[in-house]
Amino acid sequence: MSSADSIELVDMHPPHADLAEETLRGLSGEQKTLPCKLFYDKRGSELFEAICELPEYYLTRTEISILRRFMDEITRALGPRVQLIEPGSGAGTKTRLLLDALEDPVSYVPLDISKEHLRAVAESIHRDYPDLQVQPVCADFVQPIHVPDPARPPDRRVVFFPGSTIGNFHPEEARAFLDHLADLAGPGGGLLIGFDRRKSPEILVAAYDDSAGLTAEFNLNLLRRLNLDLGTVFPLEGFAHEARWNEQHGRIEMHLVSKADQTVRLGETDVQFHAGESIRTECCHKYGPEGVADLADRFELIHTWTDDEDRFGIQYLTVR
Ligand code: AVJ
Repeated sequence: MSSADSIELVDMHPPHADLAEETLRGLSGEQKTLPCKLFYDKRGSELFEAICELPEYYLTRTEISILRRFMDEITRALGPRVQLIEPGSGAGTKTRLLLDALEDPVSYVPLDISKEHLRAVAESIHRDYPDLQVQPVCADFVQPIHVPDPARPPDRRVVFFPGSTIGNFHPEEARAFLDHLADLAGPGGGLLIGFDRRKSPEILVAAYDDSAGLTAEFNLNLLRRLNLDLGTVFPLEGFAHEARWNEQHGRIEMHLVSKADQTVRLGETDVQFHAGESIRTECCHKYGPEGVADLADRFELIHTWTDDEDRFGIQYLTVR
């Protein structure tokens, strides 16, 4: 059996985001913001992987423990002959745990905006699961996507969206995105999704402001990345990392706080910062026991699995 050439990649040619335009737009508002998707250049992706191993960052470890503990129930709920679709695929530990346990899965469809990353993911899954059809789709996972039909007819399509990435969406955006996932899963399809729970602010803030300083580096890397890709000159030592719990919105916010009055040139525009003013770089919404069910209008909640301390949740929902 050959390897990579047997994998058929569907390229939807996702339009390249205009980094300069997005940056300028974000820095023009009353509260300056930058989109959190900009964290993940090569260095940022490496830092995020290291964050997942930190003692304070309980999320990854807890989600994996829930998957392991309840895998029999989870795979029974999903049923046999699933076409598994993973937006923003990591194809790491969680995906493999699920693929190992699913009964006779029909195909695996990683979706990613980076063709290079997508190829690597598809090849590594193909290598380790040679009998599983792999159908990578290069697309922006928030855009409408045509899911390719697998060679064998699936019983259902299931979207796998672990990691609590849903928390990065503001509630109304999350609602729209969950509708979009219902389209991806199609009639009779399912959604297996991870979400982080509200808990004491001390635990939450520590998870986003670790003692080793990795999250600070991850946050500041955003400016480093803009300097490299846009030729801006954000002085990294001029900004400080801060993680804040926003009680009203039930979310952790990451900010980069300007240490002094300063001006940064962005193309033709001078962006002014006064001392103490911040750029909000990420919002991570935390959920109650109901999880994403209240936002998932087109889904019916089938089951919620949690850990003993209710730190994290995994839900299975099916399209109504
Ligand atoms: C990848 C969005 C799930 O919100 O916890 C980790 C990103 N930011 N530490 C999260 C993140 C700072 C992470 N998600």
